[in-house]
Amino acid sequence: MATFIVLLGPPGVGKGTQAKIMAEETGLVHISSGDLFRENIKGQTELGKLAQTYIGRGELVPDNLTIAMIRERLARPDCKAGAILDGFPRTTTQADALEKMLGEFNGKVNKVPYITASEKVLVERLSGRWTCRANGHVYHDKLNPPKQATVCDLDGSELYQRDDDKSDTVVRRIQVYLEQTAPLITYYRGRGNLIEINGTQNIRDVTKSLLSALKK
Ligand code: AP5
Ligand code: MG
Repeated sequence: MATFIVLLGPPGVGKGTQAKIMAEETGLVHISSGDLFRENIKGQTELGKLAQTYIGRGELVPDNLTIAMIRERLARPDCKAGAILDGFPRTTTQADALEKMLGEFNGKVNKVPYITASEKVLVERLSGRWTCRANGHVYHDKLNPPKQATVCDLDGSELYQRDDDKSDTVVRRIQVYLEQTAPLITYYRGRGNLIEINGTQNIRDVTKSLLSALKK
């Protein structure tokens, strides 16, 4: 049966950073709903145009659009063995939809690492984040700097600062997380999937905690 890992945690806690490392370690594909929306925005698709209006305000994109986008992605052959899901599900409606669709794809949610950090840490991480245009690799100007400013170490593409990392939008994203996504902590704890991970450690130690939790 295919193995799906759901990375849960607030904006800026390190889901994307860790998901890329986990994908290399486990051989599972990394699927980030935020990256998929940003690709659609870049390509100016209908979905991208619609999503932009929500993302720019720090609000969630409506469930029906998000679920349809993920369903299409999970149906592709590279997800046969499973995937690391980063940023999806973000509401209980999405979590229910995921359970249903994985049933069809002969998979299930295996573990749900819930990465935690204080709001102060999240704001600090997001305000210094630089993201690569080609593949969404992330850096931080102080905490995880690239070798050369504004250039991705891994693929040489340009680094940019996300529009939704502006301080007003960050505050709204954290609020939306607490209202709409935090209920998933209880949801997955109740199903016995949740594993708490201390996200305030450095990147390498968070990875160690995650890998040992996934082995259990
Ligand atoms: P999305 O792109 O998913 O953003 P997010 O959840 O807000 O998460 P972030 O990407 O901001 O943070 P992260 O946890 O990945 O942290 P990162 O590794 O980059 O979503 C964007 C928007 O799309 C949403 O607001 C919503 O509008 C929409 N959307 C997406 N999914 C949706 C869904 N399912 N339903 C509806 N709408 C949806 O790290 C952050 C920074 O910290 C980096 O600079 C990094 O270098 C640094 N860092 C990471 N780990 C450490 C560490 N351990 N120590 C020091 N620095 C660290
Ligand atoms: Mg991310």
